[in-house]
Amino acid sequence: MNPDLSVRLGSLTLKNPIMTASGCFGYGLELIDLLDLNQLGGIVSKSLTLHKRMGTPPHRIFETASGMLNAIGIENIGVEAYLNEKLPHLSRYDIAIVANVMGNTLEEYAATAARFRGVRRINAIEVNISSPNTKKGGMHFGVDPELTYQVIRAVKDATDRPVIAKLSPNVTDIVQIAKRAVDGGADMLSLINTLWSLAIDHWNGKPILGNVTGGLSGPAIKPVALRMVHQVSRALPVPVIGMGGIANLFDVIEFMMAGASAVQIGTANFYDPTVSVRLVRELRDYCSMRKIDRISSLIGALQSS
Ligand SMILES: Cc1cc2nc3c(=O)[nH]c(=O)nc-3n(C[C@H](O)[C@H](O)[C@H](O)COP(=O)(O)O)c2cc1C
Repeated sequence: MNPDLSVRLGSLTLKNPIMTASGCFGYGLELIDLLDLNQLGGIVSKSLTLHKRMGTPPHRIFETASGMLNAIGIENIGVEAYLNEKLPHLSRYDIAIVANVMGNTLEEYAATAARFRGVRRINAIEVNISSPNTKKGGMHFGVDPELTYQVIRAVKDATDRPVIAKLSPNVTDIVQIAKRAVDGGADMLSLINTLWSLAIDHWNGKPILGNVTGGLSGPAIKPVALRMVHQVSRALPVPVIGMGGIANLFDVIEFMMAGASAVQIGTANFYDPTVSVRLVRELRDYCSMRKIDRISSLIGALQSS
């Protein structure tokens, strides 16, 4: 049996639902000696800004008892360097490439997204309105329904690629935010980004992270992410990409049953860089074993009513 692993996300078709998450797989090229990128459904770039950014001071990563805390602060090479130095190499691979964009202002978001106009090899723009690790931009937009609407509208007007709004879990009503993103023109939604968090060094009475606060990720946040993917996918007619703590095959299946059409693998890459490629193989074996012809039949299959 050769199960069909392809999934459709509006106008975008992925050969399988496994993507790597922004900030957790570099620019996609760092692991090409170790992995066959062609196996993946897609990769999402680190968040890109109009100009290069240095990010926040150390420490930037801390392992808690229940997940990883990070405050990288959107360190990145800038959109121009990505287009010139990274994309030409990535373009050799037969996978979807998503550019994740961020800015401090509406104008910066729009200008960064506009740089991908006509760049056919970029299959979609993911808009980071959910990072908790910067003074401006990111989560500051994604926790406010009206700012969510405005920034997605601005990006949508600036780009000719499908737009994915990446949502923050740090809100009281995720469905309200998701609705405004769709009103603003989001073709898809991805969720969730990290949970805004704090770690303290009790020996010296100081925060552990240089930025004071950071974002919690990994298996600890999976139940929150599943609940939000379920709520949002039931409420809105656009494809949802799920992420948050996915580390094994059954996590992928659960996210798809909750309503995700595809998933992104984040923190798990840091302790097992081969996980995403392995998940594709395991998904194929799972479908064969359970006689599932098309993986897409799992999307939203949760029987909750
Ligand atoms: C070290 C690190 C850096 C990240 N950088 C970004 C980023 O630049 N842009 C973004 O949209 N999300 C970023 N994220 C969030 C992830 O893409 C993902 O949404 C989140 O970690 C939840 O998934 P996970 O639990 O599988 O890691 C980052 C996460 C980590 C752990």
